[in-house]
Amino acid sequence: MPVTVIVGAQWGDEGKAKVIDLLSKEHGYVVRYQGGHNAGHTVVVGDERYALQLVPSGILYDHVVPVIANGVVVDMPTLFHEIDTLERRGIGCERLVVSSHAHLIFPWHQAWDALHEQDRGDAKIGTTLKGIGPAYADKARRVGIRAGEVLDPVAFADTVRSRAEAESRSLVAAGGEPLDVDDVVARSTELAARLAPHVGDTVNLLHDALAAGQHLLLEGAQATFLDLDHGTYPYVTSSNPTAGGACAGTGLGPRDIDRVVGITKAYTTRVGAGPFPTELLDADGDRLVEIGREFGTVTGRRRRPGWIDCVMLRHAVRLNSLTELALTKLDVLDSFDTVKVCVGYRVDGRRLSGYPDRVELLAQVEPEYVELPGWGRELRSMRRPSELPSAARAFVQLVEAEVGVPIGVVGVGAERDDYLHWAAS
Ligand code: GDP
Ligand code: IMO
Ligand code: MG
Repeated sequence: MPVTVIVGAQWGDEGKAKVIDLLSKEHGYVVRYQGGHNAGHTVVVGDERYALQLVPSGILYDHVVPVIANGVVVDMPTLFHEIDTLERRGIGCERLVVSSHAHLIFPWHQAWDALHEQDRGDAKIGTTLKGIGPAYADKARRVGIRAGEVLDPVAFADTVRSRAEAESRSLVAAGGEPLDVDDVVARSTELAARLAPHVGDTVNLLHDALAAGQHLLLEGAQATFLDLDHGTYPYVTSSNPTAGGACAGTGLGPRDIDRVVGITKAYTTRVGAGPFPTELLDADGDRLVEIGREFGTVTGRRRRPGWIDCVMLRHAVRLNSLTELALTKLDVLDSFDTVKVCVGYRVDGRRLSGYPDRVELLAQVEPEYVELPGWGRELRSMRRPSELPSAARAFVQLVEAEVGVPIGVVGVGAERDDYLHWAAS
């Protein structure tokens, strides 16, 4: 399959990076298409743990060309910190290509993110405070600064200075702190010089690669229900993680995409505010957090835990044209006596036929569960579906039947090789 999209089917942190790492073996290009350093993508290789925010997860393979495409917003300090860290660990990043159309994040975006969150008070979104929303807002109001602009250092410095001066004034007027404009200009121009050799025309690069028979893996960040249009607005991110966003975010056309893999945990988590029908506020939830190590890679925040929700996964199939699912972290449920799968939503006793279109309605739904016996065994070393205890197989079969698309891989541990091919069952 020449072009595959990997998309989170829940609210993020589903284990996308591990699946990307697994599929990278068969792909020449791994391409981030949206989001920015709000993402935290973890790959565990033996004793080494790589937590990536901006650099595509395929970087760990020498044969992969990692691409940051036009739909991404790029924070240069984070990018180069990440590159330096990877290079110290022996992973070369010279091959990284950044689209000339990708927008850059500046310190004023982070300042606005914090100020907006503060102004929202109790209604805050719980953003990562990385400046993602304000950077996309600037893109939409056509005042953003793009990566291609670093190729003219003098004009770039002038633009950054005038934008920083204007933003500093606006921040002060809104009750925030002024920016140290000289410092912002100095740091940005220094990093811009480092970015310049990476900047390229990624649209033609990707189309030419495809024409030459290369396989491309498009790495979604965030997830379907954090999508600006289709997620639980306003408790969403400011980009389109859904598969359609992979076209806008790379310049590939819809007909170029062959395969769309939705990633879901065997349960659900969410970071930040917003409705969450299957949320567990009890001891089971604490156990999911503890066993699944559900703390954010980027912010360290405790993730909110809950049971797996097939109503949202069915909607994710529609929104993304999912061709298959990857089910991760099945091993986290190993020690539960019983496990639950949400198969429907009810409001006032009435079953809803589809995913609610309003967050107010989503906040009211009562999940309808099927409860299954647990399996009480450690799955981590299992590599074939036939090795799984029958109760674990029944769980995967129920999810597959409820969601209605085939499950490809099942994750049974955090390490690179801790998975099995369910499709082989
Ligand atoms: P992403 O943002 O979707 O790439 O996911 P994160 O990296 O933020 O979070 C997923 C976490 O689960 C990481 O710490 C992974 O190492 C870990 N992980 C991925 N797959 C599995 C699995 O099948 N079992 C276990 N126990 N951990 C997994
Ligand atoms: P990965 O790629 C989980 C959440 C934030 C917040 C909302 C908006 O690792 O799955 P933002 O800073 O984007 O404006 O915050 O989105 N969020 C994520 N949650 N995983 C992520 O990325 C996330 N990126 C943003 O917690 O609720
Ligand atoms: Mg993550």
